[in-house]
Amino acid sequence: MSFSSAPSRPEDWWKSAVVYQVYVRSFADDDGDGIGDLAGVRSRLPYLRDLGVDALWLTPFYRSPMVDGGYDVADYRDVDPTFGTLTDFDAMITDAHALGLRIIVDIVPNHTSDAHPWFGAALTSSPGSAERDRYLFRDGRGADGELPPNDWESIFGGPAWTRVPDGQWYLHLFDPAQPDLNWRHPEVRAEFEDVLRFWLDRGVDGFRIDVAHGMIKANGLPDVGDSVPAGQRQVELLGRARLPYFDQDEVHEIYRAWRPILDSYPGGRMAVAEAWAETPQRLARYVGPDELHQAFNFDFLDATWSADSFRKVVDTALAESAIVGAPTTWVLSNHDKQRHVTRYGDGALGLRRARAAALLMLALPGSVYLYQGEELGLPEVLDLPDELRQDPAFRRTGESRDGCRVPLPWSGDVPPYGFGPAGGGPAWLPAPPTWRALSVAAQTGNPDSTLELYRAALRLRREHTAPAGSTEPGQVTWLESEPGVLAFGFGRPAAAGSTELVCVVNLGAEPVAVGNYGTPLLHSQPAGPDTPTTLPTDSAAWFTRPATG
Ligand code: BGC
Repeated sequence: MSFSSAPSRPEDWWKSAVVYQVYVRSFADDDGDGIGDLAGVRSRLPYLRDLGVDALWLTPFYRSPMVDGGYDVADYRDVDPTFGTLTDFDAMITDAHALGLRIIVDIVPNHTSDAHPWFGAALTSSPGSAERDRYLFRDGRGADGELPPNDWESIFGGPAWTRVPDGQWYLHLFDPAQPDLNWRHPEVRAEFEDVLRFWLDRGVDGFRIDVAHGMIKANGLPDVGDSVPAGQRQVELLGRARLPYFDQDEVHEIYRAWRPILDSYPGGRMAVAEAWAETPQRLARYVGPDELHQAFNFDFLDATWSADSFRKVVDTALAESAIVGAPTTWVLSNHDKQRHVTRYGDGALGLRRARAAALLMLALPGSVYLYQGEELGLPEVLDLPDELRQDPAFRRTGESRDGCRVPLPWSGDVPPYGFGPAGGGPAWLPAPPTWRALSVAAQTGNPDSTLELYRAALRLRREHTAPAGSTEPGQVTWLESEPGVLAFGFGRPAAAGSTELVCVVNLGAEPVAVGNYGTPLLHSQPAGPDTPTTLPTDSAAWFTRPATG
């Protein structure tokens, strides 16, 4: 097994970090209004420290009308009153740093809210004005300009254009309440550079860049045309074809301007792109010493439950990491996707697979992004009443992301299961009664629980793959295995010549013998009579054995 010998630097912390995504409105409610807030995050920091994560990524908490859960920002330099105040933010980050936790905040540069003062000014200014030029206003097509300027579709369904009373149209790749900015306008660029500095000055350790591939649109705003197969929406081409509104080469100039800003602050301030590109090679272009530090690897999230599918994604990601010289990221769930317990089959089957996937992911070199509640094995809530759903996409497409955003169960026997203070209001989305048994309190101390599995895995990962002071992730060495099984060595010897770790995942239909992989360390399923020599289907185990050098 080979290990990276590069010296590790504290500012490279992100290279092997486990980052926990906090969807702020659903994490913990301190003031009892049924909506999570920054004081709630602050109060639960010890839980996250004990869980064993290195950093938190907070979804947007800025001033917003909340049409898209805060991804519609009206003021990039203030906290929405629903979530607290800047003072609450400062207190939260101070405590986080004192506990050794870093803070990554979400930045939403592709679009503002329609309640942003710039958009208000654009609406009250005339066509062709400087105010309109900060967004993408155009005349329509057709005899009276009654048709949208081109054929672009909103990701949330319907046309990507909305007409204003004077007859012009403006572009919104998402909801009409999220007008797209014109990133060829110098004021837009200057504004966001200043916003980055505002949060860097407040101590943030990094940024998650929303729709990082979207800011530049092809010159002339050309039609997508007939490249979209009949019956499909343009968004279904995401990640498979280049659309004129995504992944344009010029977008990289923006990041080349941002990187020196990040580098001018001490302590390793980083940025991770939420970007979709046609190929892994094009995605890799977002990452590098003069652009962003990382990009989410959504291929891992999209992999189907088979050894071949995961093997291919892992090999591709590792090859790309070698090219860009930065370790990749691993993600199984986030606030936009159905929770992986449910994607993998729901119920007991989905949970078994989710637990196995967690051990696979946590054994891979690079950084890991956990989505709040995955450590509890939460499934998607599929039966939310329609009238409670808040995702703006729901009314336009019938699809909704609310089921992965249900507030976390912390404790107790009655909803909202400790999400808010005693006597507080109901949570903004109701948790199902089955979540009583999935709360943090219910799982704590039960060695068979998913929470304790994550705690143990995070501790072992830290001990074995990142010895004290080291941030360089180890490497993967594939080992011989039965069909349907993935087996690899990972991490680095804790001390030269001592032990190495092995991860084995059985994605096949039959139990497999694993007696020769080493001494069992951790198992995704509660120990059975055949443990440790047999690995049941849909499970994973970690072993330790003398290093082979
Ligand atoms: C975010 C979504 C959001 C969209 C528009 C996405 O990439 O993750 O939650 O709706 O950007 O800002």
